[in-house]
Amino acid sequence: MATKAGKKGGKNQQKAPKKPEEPDYLQKVDPILMKNVTELTGGRSNLHIFVPLCGKTPDMRWLAEQGHAITGVEASPRYIKAFFQDSKLEYTVQKKQITAEKKADVYTAKGQNITLYHCDIFNFSLEVAGGKFDAIWDQSAMPVINAMGKTRLKEYTSLMQSLLKPDGRHMVEICKHGSNFVTAKMLKSLVGDQCDVRYIGTRIWKYDEEDDEYDPEDHEHEDHGHGDHEHGDHGHGDHDDEEDVEMFYHLITFKDKGATAGRKRKSERQMEERKEKQPKQTKGKQRQKKRSKK
Ligand SMILES: C[S@@+](CC[C@H](N)C(=O)[O-])C[C@H]1O[C@@H](n2cnc3c(N)ncnc32)[C@H](O)[C@@H]1O
Repeated sequence: MATKAGKKGGKNQQKAPKKPEEPDYLQKVDPILMKNVTELTGGRSNLHIFVPLCGKTPDMRWLAEQGHAITGVEASPRYIKAFFQDSKLEYTVQKKQITAEKKADVYTAKGQNITLYHCDIFNFSLEVAGGKFDAIWDQSAMPVINAMGKTRLKEYTSLMQSLLKPDGRHMVEICKHGSNFVTAKMLKSLVGDQCDVRYIGTRIWKYDEEDDEYDPEDHEHEDHGHGDHEHGDHGHGDHDDEEDVEMFYHLITFKDKGATAGRKRKSERQMEERKEKQPKQTKGKQRQKKRSKK
């Protein structure tokens, strides 16, 4: 935001240093999320979506505008306030006990179903949430947690699993930039046998040397229908700051629930229909059949 440079025409007027403008991409809804929102929602409406380490992402506003309820967790009150300011939303703040020792400031939007907790993600729990979520939009959180160590990353993954409904969908975006990158292989090993991990797409932020900034929209590409891609498994060494950044999107679901739930329910329905079509046998007829088999 540009600052005012003092009274117009005043003596010794000095111009306040102009704050660097916020990069455009922080104001824009993630295009891969927009294009693949049904991967997150499963085509369902009125969901309760969790956004861990939400920062000030405008994705929360966009999802709320689609009719979903949003709960976010963010450690920095500055980002939370910036989110409401960017969104032109008024809010109220209330204290809530979240652990035996800790209270969180809970920001609730007026006019949109958005609730943001100012707290450490590791102090958030199913008990605090008051129920499991239908979906989790996990944007750039995992590399941040990975920087805290492998134990924390495992703890974080278990927390996400505890917060997700059995048919819930956890969409993860992992930014490959720096040594904290979480590969698809790591993701699979973290979630364990009980979950499926499916690759959704890749987005590339091309570094523009001339403008000294990243330009995500012009260089986005998607790669649908390659379920078993091991994108993000080709090394994860340190990167220079001024280098293209790749972002990999994956969907995590509990096995035989989330992504396959519809199909399974259909096959179950077909079995039930077949059973209903079969004429019911009386006990006498069943005994007769058994005897004739002997
Ligand atoms: C890489 S940013 C991602 C923000 C947002 N998801 C996005 O993509 O725009 C990571 C965010 O996590 C927050 N954060 C870091 N550690 C946290 C913690 N332990 N609990 C909650 N938030 C945390 C930071 O303040 C920062 O806003």
